[in-house]
Amino acid sequence: MQQRPDIGVPLDRIDGVVKVTGRAHYAAEYEVDNLLYGVIVSSAIARGRIVALDTNAACSVSGVVTVMTHENRPHVPWFDMENDGQAANSKPPFRALYNDEILFSGQPIALVVATSFEAARRGAMLVKARYETAAHNTSLERSLGRRYTPERKRENNITRGDVETALRESPFTVQQRYHLAMEHHNPMELHGSTVQFHGDGRYTLYDKNQGSQNARQQIEQAFGLDSGTLTVLNPYVGGAFGSGLRPAYQGYLAMLAAVMLKRSIRVSLTRQQMFSHVHRPECLQEINLACQPDGKLAAIGMRATTSTSNYEAYTENILGWGPSAYPSPNLELDYAVAGIDTPTPGNMRAPGAATGMTLFEMAMDELAQAAGMDPLAMRLANYSDYDGLDNKPYTSKALKQAYQEGAKRFGWEGRPLEAGVMADGKEKVGWGMATALWEALVFKTSARVQLDHRGELHVTSAASDIGTGTCTIMAQVAAGALGLPLRKVHIKLGDSRLPEAPLEGGSAMAASVGSAIAMACRDIGQQLHELARESNPDTYANTRYDDILFHEGSLCISGDPSSSMPLDELVARSGKDALQAEATIDPEDYDDDEHARNTHGAIFAEVKVDEELGVVRVTRMVAAIAAGNILNPKTARSQILGCLVMGIGMALQEESMFDHRFGRIMNHNLAEYHIPSNADIHTLDLLFVEEQDSRINPLGAKGVGEIGIVGAAAAIANAIWHATGKRVRSLPITLDKLL
Ligand code: MOS
Repeated sequence: MQQRPDIGVPLDRIDGVVKVTGRAHYAAEYEVDNLLYGVIVSSAIARGRIVALDTNAACSVSGVVTVMTHENRPHVPWFDMENDGQAANSKPPFRALYNDEILFSGQPIALVVATSFEAARRGAMLVKARYETAAHNTSLERSLGRRYTPERKRENNITRGDVETALRESPFTVQQRYHLAMEHHNPMELHGSTVQFHGDGRYTLYDKNQGSQNARQQIEQAFGLDSGTLTVLNPYVGGAFGSGLRPAYQGYLAMLAAVMLKRSIRVSLTRQQMFSHVHRPECLQEINLACQPDGKLAAIGMRATTSTSNYEAYTENILGWGPSAYPSPNLELDYAVAGIDTPTPGNMRAPGAATGMTLFEMAMDELAQAAGMDPLAMRLANYSDYDGLDNKPYTSKALKQAYQEGAKRFGWEGRPLEAGVMADGKEKVGWGMATALWEALVFKTSARVQLDHRGELHVTSAASDIGTGTCTIMAQVAAGALGLPLRKVHIKLGDSRLPEAPLEGGSAMAASVGSAIAMACRDIGQQLHELARESNPDTYANTRYDDILFHEGSLCISGDPSSSMPLDELVARSGKDALQAEATIDPEDYDDDEHARNTHGAIFAEVKVDEELGVVRVTRMVAAIAAGNILNPKTARSQILGCLVMGIGMALQEESMFDHRFGRIMNHNLAEYHIPSNADIHTLDLLFVEEQDSRINPLGAKGVGEIGIVGAAAAIANAIWHATGKRVRSLPITLDKLL
């Protein structure tokens, strides 16, 4: 018998088969008649000016239609927009082909357009640029003298009590400097766009992004298009991790070319060009901690600087996490950014927390060592039912259970306090742990649900599924709510014309669109109940909605199968083709402003270190996650597994490396920008602890797309210390740092 697709059942992805069989089409794969191909030429210098662009050789390549540059591109309103340099997640102020100024290495300086991809690529190789170079800087360290705190972040730089005195008077302290390297998102699918030019003022844009309606809005504004003339589609997205929150520049270039040539065109970034779109900023963080003899924190003093571009201030919440998790009477936070000559960084999986909480949890491990305490006991000594920053209670917080169940699953008990005492053959063995913390958000989201006269349910929302399983969860929530088998449920998403949905980001989509669907399905359910009362008053007259059970395409009175009525018959009786409902979840209705809303977790790691070679293997990880109601344990598990893999990358491998002489990232390819491969991954284990939350949203669900990466790299770094006795305070911990 088929499993009922209710909430909490580990359903397979409903889009899994079309994805693995290649039938799911991605942005740069759509077939469009008379398609042109654009290949981007990237700047070879990091700062300066284009003096001349010689496009003659490129233009003489057979098949090349034109070479679009800042000199001949069409003028659209985009180029007249004010740029206040204040980063908004969704709106990219960088304007490709704006003028002759070069802001970063790899900046797009021309688009070669041809009737074949090969001709365009050949042409792109022949474009010759002459530059006037200016002095550039890509070193965060060297730009620290120019660090500044943008206005919007100043209120977070708080001072409470007296950190200096507490540091002086407390028995145990840590005062160290930590570092995280710049990272790039590197989803499998490259950023790509296919523009279909319809010739009647309408455009269809297949674009890789995390929100079709945001992309539509940005591009409509940039091109001065009338509302409704642009449709953006992103039904399948091959990973993004935040790189698709802002539409990437190839989409604008494709649109510019379509406007200029009145033709359809496709433009995709190369893997190398992916390193000139967006990245996780580099971070330098000084952390000063003090605790009492019982491990209770007496002081947290932190000063952090993240890199941004020289044309825009991108900020994150780097410092708030630790003080929020562990209240401290004395607190001093100083966060700032410093500009370097790169593209503007942006959100990458758990932005801010993956950086700031990771580095903080490395310092907490050192404090535990200083106090002679077990790292988990240190966290428990500072456990709080209130957010340590604003003193609010949580809507729910099952972190204690996560610590306990995670520790048990890992076998933490009996871990020696000292470093370097466990071994396996010639490898040193170490165990480390860290706390994970992330926000539990809901964004305003709408969904429309239609039940047709054949009993088929059609669910639509402009939501995106960037590979997380959103589409499956949408089907699951709908099928569960109306007791329908999955094959009767049809999901449509990734289309800017559908009901309003936000960017898929902040781990908020499953709870947001899921809640909207649950609300709309309840509406349909009530309509069906009303139809049952009308058509079968003898049986249904005195029933309430809560007495009704939906099962296998029928409804009945709970406990009375003989009352069963098929849903398709009820719809037919309505005299309509379909019953319809639309619902919107509005976070304002759920945010009482009196509670903190977070997901929590405990991450445990075992490493084995070959001390002669400096090679680290993460042999075991356990993540215990508290995230409310888990809608689909299978897709949720995949999210956490992906987070742990990315955490291993952050701890040991991922690093975008500049040659500062050229201001250029030299490992801009997947051969030299290392991400974990199968051989790097050993046992990853995880569990979800029971957490009831009736305040957070109608489903009681919190998101799981990001929580697992927070603290994962810290758990590994802490385990490396435990194995070797060596503290490496700069991530990734590559062998040169460890030897
Ligand atoms: Mo994300 S960094 O919430 O796309």
